[in-house]
Amino acid sequence: MKPTIPPPIEVRGSARQPLGMPPAQFLRDYWQKRPLLVRHAFPGFQPPIAPEDLAGLACEEGALSRLIVHDAARERWKVKTGPLAEADFARTGDANWTLLVQDVDKWDADVAALLEPFAFLPSWRVDDIMISYAEPGGGVGAHVDQYDVFLIQGQGLRHWAISTDPDAPRDVRPDVELKQLAHFEPTHEWLLEPGDLLYLPPGVPHDGVAFGGPCMTFSVGMRAPSQAELTGDLADYLAERLPDELRYADPDLAPAKAPGEIDRAALARVKAALPFAAALDEDTLRDWFGRFITRYRLAQQPAAPARPPGEAALRKQLDAGAELLRHPWTRLAWSRGRRGATLFANGEAWPAPPALAARLCAQRALRLEASPGEAELALLHALVEGGHLVLRKPRRR
Ligand code: SIN
Ligand code: CO
Repeated sequence: MKPTIPPPIEVRGSARQPLGMPPAQFLRDYWQKRPLLVRHAFPGFQPPIAPEDLAGLACEEGALSRLIVHDAARERWKVKTGPLAEADFARTGDANWTLLVQDVDKWDADVAALLEPFAFLPSWRVDDIMISYAEPGGGVGAHVDQYDVFLIQGQGLRHWAISTDPDAPRDVRPDVELKQLAHFEPTHEWLLEPGDLLYLPPGVPHDGVAFGGPCMTFSVGMRAPSQAELTGDLADYLAERLPDELRYADPDLAPAKAPGEIDRAALARVKAALPFAAALDEDTLRDWFGRFITRYRLAQQPAAPARPPGEAALRKQLDAGAELLRHPWTRLAWSRGRRGATLFANGEAWPAPPALAARLCAQRALRLEASPGEAELALLHALVEGGHLVLRKPRRR
């Protein structure tokens, strides 16, 4: 079998083909797959906005702007979010800072015209054009973005370093609010000139630094909702349209064997009440429903004790005959899953030995007959720590 040669990472563009190839080829070989540097994507590129006008926009109420100054000697980063004031620029000096303004396409029709070459992409996938102005050494540090981006070099030079290593570490520095990477080893480095274009799919570590003089970069950024955002919005959308009378219903209810148990029949009824969630696996549905139903319409929470006992102290008290009282504002339920049982309390969940979970749900006051095992003690301790169970010392006779 012939080895497959990956498409080149660097190509040359032209006025006719800004990407150096037809859009269909770019989409097939690079889009959401691998980075691409296009030299001369926009030959003779003229920035549609002057740096002073960008600075002016950064001072407008409602414009999203950030001024980032890098103190290279102490490796500190200062971030000032807009609206900025003229005085902010007076202190910046002539190196190691950058101004970033998002959504400039919404404010300036000439900037918005830069989107035309990207009309082969669905317009609703486009987020904005962000423009950065930087003095030499200025940049935002090495980072990873969640979205595809086309970085058009507009003025001056920018040194770009990227990593195409799929195993490159992605952990971020804890000391900087810019989500900069803690480790960054570039696999490719280039100096981009006006009119050059760098395309990066999501998740590629990169670092762009202004080189030699003032630098403007135009970033055409895409947007793609996360599954979490899609799920949340769909749920809101459906909820708004469902009549209040449609509820969880159990006309087929049989007498409960263990009162706190969310059994198979209950889960089947939950599924019937949620037709759009039919594809959810049983464990996810069970975990969500257990958390949901134990905090549903709960007006208050028990207060957690200021000084809860440690596990050893709790065991001692239980062995000495102390009782565990369920807090009146605690709602419990439990359920058996494929990986053992779970106890739910006020929206939280813990792994639980089934016999103990059943007893905790059935009895408001509980005294153990034997010293608890490790799993039992861990569960009881978590509940005591959360204020769901309150210890009562044995009464003297
Ligand atoms: C820039 O500084 O212009 C680009 C920022 C980025 O890498 O996302
Ligand atoms: Co970026």
